[in-house]
Amino acid sequence: MNYLWDGILNLKSSISEYNNSIAFCYLNLNNGAVAINENLSDRTNQLLLIFKKEIAIPDKQLAIRIVDNRQLLFFNEDQLASETKLFLQQYLPYCFLSILAKEKERAIVVAHFAQTLDGKIATENGDSKWIGNKENLQHAHRMRALCKGVAVGSKTLEIDAPKLTVRHVRGTDPVRIIIGNPPPVFDSLLESSTAAIHVFCSKDLAKLPNINYHYLSSEDGMICPKEILQKLYRLNIFSVYIEGGASTTSYFFEKGAIDILQLHIAPILFGSGTNGIQLPIINKVKEGKLFDQYSFLPVGDSMMFTGFCK
Ligand SMILES: NC(=O)c1ccc[n+]([C@@H]2O[C@H](COP(=O)([O-])OP(=O)(O)OC[C@H]3O[C@@H](n4cnc5c(N)ncnc54)[C@H](OP(=O)(O)O)[C@@H]3O)[C@@H](O)[C@H]2O)c1
Repeated sequence: MNYLWDGILNLKSSISEYNNSIAFCYLNLNNGAVAINENLSDRTNQLLLIFKKEIAIPDKQLAIRIVDNRQLLFFNEDQLASETKLFLQQYLPYCFLSILAKEKERAIVVAHFAQTLDGKIATENGDSKWIGNKENLQHAHRMRALCKGVAVGSKTLEIDAPKLTVRHVRGTDPVRIIIGNPPPVFDSLLESSTAAIHVFCSKDLAKLPNINYHYLSSEDGMICPKEILQKLYRLNIFSVYIEGGASTTSYFFEKGAIDILQLHIAPILFGSGTNGIQLPIINKVKEGKLFDQYSFLPVGDSMMFTGFCK
């Protein structure tokens, strides 16, 4: 899938750098070339992506209609190998995050957890390495390459000491974003990449060189997620991949600040431990959170739930 991955990266960059409205574009599945609002010179094995409803699909053309910049409707898909279709389903939607961000004037959030069958993201004492399989790790690195920033809460930085790079795939390391008031220990981030580090904090922290601190007001210690996302947008960080932990992601979810939720569901049970999404108690099934559209796609021996939040 390397050739296709390069094409996806190229498509993502071409779309985010394109300043006009996009009616259609072509992606050459052989060499990853991209053309926006015009034809490709090499028309062999080309995929047409259509953004505007009024554009018709040429006869027998392999094409995908992009509905609301997120839903994919395939046409003449018999020309695609099943693993190519799966890869497009898994990664194509994230090429359009910059368009959504410009519509909403805030960074778009994709949140990810690797969780057990009973919804736990860590054991009782905080161990979480690794709940997901190796394909999920590669998936997370692909998502980091597709998003401009990757964010974790201060406790995850402290407990897991993550590197937050794309070392398992080709791509550019994202900007690293820490939410909260972390102790001044960023070794895992500083030693692994030169990508920028931003801290969104509510306290006046002792400043370290090479770290960008953004002080925002808070309520009960929690900063309004949408304020963080608006600030990120102003920093030209149009998309952010939130990788936990539970309190950070749950608070964003509760405040309607997650656009896409990815749950990697591993075939393991804990029966105790940390719940991934933690929300105020509801009493009726009908009060449960639903998604606009969702999919369950295979990732190695496990499944990935991907839901577009309402
Ligand atoms: N399985 C997985 O996919 C996965 C992924 C990541 C983490 N984990 C696990 O999750 C656990 C950590 O989760 P956690 O819930 O304890 O911690 P966390 O979400 O990583 O961090 C919580 C802290 O982040 C800060 N914070 C979060 N949202 C904030 C907001 N809106 N405004 C201001 N500050 C905010 C607060 O920091 P201050 O207290 O500094 O103010 C808060 O105490 C670890 O065991 C880790 O291994 C699992």
